This record gives sequence, C-alpha cells and structure tokens, in this order.
Amino acid sequence: MNATGTSATGARPEGASDEQSSAAAVRQMFNSIAPRYDLLNHVLSCNIDRVWWNRTARRFRHVLAQPQASILDICCGTGDMTLALLRRRPVGAAPVLAADFSHAMLARGAEKFRHHNAVAIEADALHLPLSGSSLDLITTAFGFRNLANYQSGLREFHRVLKPGGELGILDFSEPSGLVGKLYAFYFRRILPAIGARLSGMGSAYSYLPASVQRFPPPQQMVRLMEDSGYTQVSWTPYTFGIAGLYRGVKA
Ligand SMILES: C[S@@+](CC[C@H](N)C(=O)[O-])C[C@H]1O[C@@H](n2cnc3c(N)ncnc32)[C@H](O)[C@@H]1O
Repeated sequence: MNATGTSATGARPEGASDEQSSAAAVRQMFNSIAPRYDLLNHVLSCNIDRVWWNRTARRFRHVLAQPQASILDICCGTGDMTLALLRRRPVGAAPVLAADFSHAMLARGAEKFRHHNAVAIEADALHLPLSGSSLDLITTAFGFRNLANYQSGLREFHRVLKPGGELGILDFSEPSGLVGKLYAFYFRRILPAIGARLSGMGSAYSYLPASVQRFPPPQQMVRLMEDSGYTQVSWTPYTFGIAGLYRGVKA
C-alpha cells in the first residue's frame, strides 16, 4: 500500500516485473492489436465508446472554444478522442496535439487527422517533450490505466499544464450492484473470448479486465489526483459507472 491507500502504482501486464518492462509490454501489445483496435473497440463496447468520448469533449467545451488554447490528447491511440475534441474547436484554432508511444496506433490516428487540425507526436506520457506550464487542457481516454506509474503520470501532466489548466481522464471502472455483477461476467468472461478470437491476441483482451481490476477505484483515484497537486477533483460516472471521467485543475 502507498500513502494514498492504493496498492497499485501502475499497470503490470502478465510477466512484467517493473515499470520498464510494463511499459515495453503495453507498447508491444498495442502495436500488435492496432490493425483491429477500432473494430474491436466498437464491437465490444456496442459503440458506447463514441458517447463517452463526446461527453468528455463536451465537459471541456469552455476550453475547446478558445482558439488559442493549447490542448494535448495523450495516449490518443487511433485518435477517436482527439476527433471528438477537434469537432468542438473553432475555425482557425491552434492545432490539438495528439500523442502516443505506440507507433502503429499513432500511425492510424495520424491517418484520421490528415484533414483535421491535429499534430501527431510519438511520445511517452511519462516523459512529455513539452515545456512546463504550456498547456490549457490534457485529455486521455482509456490510456491512463495503462501507465506504468500513475503518480508519475499525474506529476508529468501537472508539470506541463499551465496554472488553472485542466486534466480529464476517461477510463473504465468497476460498477457495483447487479449491473456490476452482470458487467463483470461480460467483461471477464465474454469480452476476452471475443477479443481473442477477433484480434488473434488472447493476452491483450485478458489484460483489459485485469488492468481495470488493478486500477484504483474512484475514491482512491480522486485522492491520488489531489495528492499530486490537482484541485476541484471530481469523478463523473458514465453508463452505470462502467466508465467515468476524472477531472482536476492545476492549482
Ligand atoms: C486503450 S488505448 C486508447 C486509445 C484512444 N485514446 C481511445 O480512446 O481509443 C490506450 C493507448 O494508450 C497508449 N499508451 C499506453 N501507455 C502509454 C504511455 N506511457 N505513453 C504514451 N502512450 C501510452 C497505448 O499505446 C494505446 O494507444
């Protein structure tokens, strides 16, 4: 257990023993599933992911509406969260930065951004090639949970945000009650089986429920964000708490 009462410090795919090997395993996994990622995402989430990306973008519409706002979508993968942000940018606005450390995922994102105002950057979320206090908004959708060290990620985002800059982390959580039981059955039994069949990579889709189980629950995540220097921290559940948006502001 760490100071926040969270036993998980970061993602640990099977076989990975430390932060370096975890990051390498995560990158390798996303490079392998990149060709089928979008298809699988939409099939396995029954397209609810689109609603979640749009809700997240809507939550930050006051920042997106400012033409000069500097915005980063980190762990952008194949770019659907970035596209949801771009749809709310005014004409002539500064480009949105979209970064990921998986070359194959980012290449697919970059292809989608070709006719949009976004710049794709191959970069590690824990070591961003950006100056301190330079961003107004950072978003990350379903990527934060995969970081090898959550506190390092929150600290790095804090470093590059301007004072008053905002952070939005969209990720899965584990709902409680009957919905939780039904969802757990789908997420731990059915999803890995379909994922393995369609992607040809069983380990990636057994890693998904394992990583959600390991991820700090909302109360602990909120505390982790507060301990990392964010204020006005909140968690808004989406779709019975299957997913949710963490928001925080750099003081
Ligand atoms: C589940 S995908 C999400 C992609 C996209 N944001 C979406 O909503 O579909 C997670 C992404 O996080 C990226 N990722 C994981 N750890 C990262 C890190 N340390 N730095 C940069 N990208 C990372 C992976 O390469 C992958 O593309």
